[in-house]
Amino acid sequence: MSLQNLTRFPRLEFIGAPTPLEYLPRFSDFLGRDIFIKRDDVTPMAMGGNKLRKLEFLAADALREGADTLITAGAIQSNHVRQTAAVAAKLGLHCVALLENPIGTTAENYLTNGNRLLLDLFNAQIEMCDALTDPTRQLDELATRLEAQGFRPYVIPVGGSNALGALGYVESALEIARQCEGAVGLSSVVVASGSAGTHAGLAIGLEQLLPDVELIGVTVSRTVADQKPKVVALQQEIAQRLDIKASAEITLWDDYFAPGYGQPCDEGNEAIKLLARLEGILLDPVYTGKAMAGLLDGIERKRFKDDGPILFVHTGGAPALFAYHPHV
Ligand SMILES: Cc1ncc(COP(=O)(O)O)c(C=O)c1O
Repeated sequence: MSLQNLTRFPRLEFIGAPTPLEYLPRFSDFLGRDIFIKRDDVTPMAMGGNKLRKLEFLAADALREGADTLITAGAIQSNHVRQTAAVAAKLGLHCVALLENPIGTTAENYLTNGNRLLLDLFNAQIEMCDALTDPTRQLDELATRLEAQGFRPYVIPVGGSNALGALGYVESALEIARQCEGAVGLSSVVVASGSAGTHAGLAIGLEQLLPDVELIGVTVSRTVADQKPKVVALQQEIAQRLDIKASAEITLWDDYFAPGYGQPCDEGNEAIKLLARLEGILLDPVYTGKAMAGLLDGIERKRFKDDGPILFVHTGGAPALFAYHPHV
């Protein structure tokens, strides 16, 4: 089996990859464990992040369909919406973003700073809603409204997480395998698992390329019982698109997202401070801080399969630090 069908899907390479894979010497020394980091926080547009990899495929599809508008949805501080708006600007497309305030805050920084500030710079049109209770339907309704106004919208699902977008993380796994070849024998990979495309794409890629490596998804919004079916469904959809079989077990840890999606926690904040102080690398309070809290606790509690090197997939999100100030 192979991933050769990946090349059949058009992609706009300049939007995303490749990114460095680095050793973290001071962090590793502090933990007594070899830790590497995949720097998808520095994908090359608009302050980086994992969604750019998905947008390589999704934006290429939008152009193929002749769309003139990208529409998507997320939290006011969504990194995904920020990256979508930036890609739309770069391609000369209109962008309409449907936003919710999932934590019901009135904090000025949350409402206006961080990712939200950048949406204005990218000239995205903002539509607020009470809650994204059924985002697929809400985005379809928005698309219908825009069509009636003469636009040609292309709907990008929440987090860019459909099978096409998730191919970006099959691509990332290819890059990881190439970067480790002959140099690093990874034991485990840790990634934040939210709308699930990143996790599912990595699961597909790593099963093909590094089958002995354990992949841990640290949930940022759901229990294992709620998250696992989402990751598995996407894993199977990607496999179908690539015409391969996928049978890797999906492993999730859900001990680190409390008190809830978009709400910082002490363990996440401590992880952010630790990596910043030891390596000068910025995590975020909603996704990567919590995922790193999982990595730290996983080492402490011996939850990993062995004592070998761990790769942390840094999916970005640092612009949210400004929005969550002073709570981080
Ligand atoms: C910084 C960051 N990390 C991780 C994720 C989770 O990725 P996914 O939604 O593909 O599970 C997101 C999603 O918005 C994100 O912005």
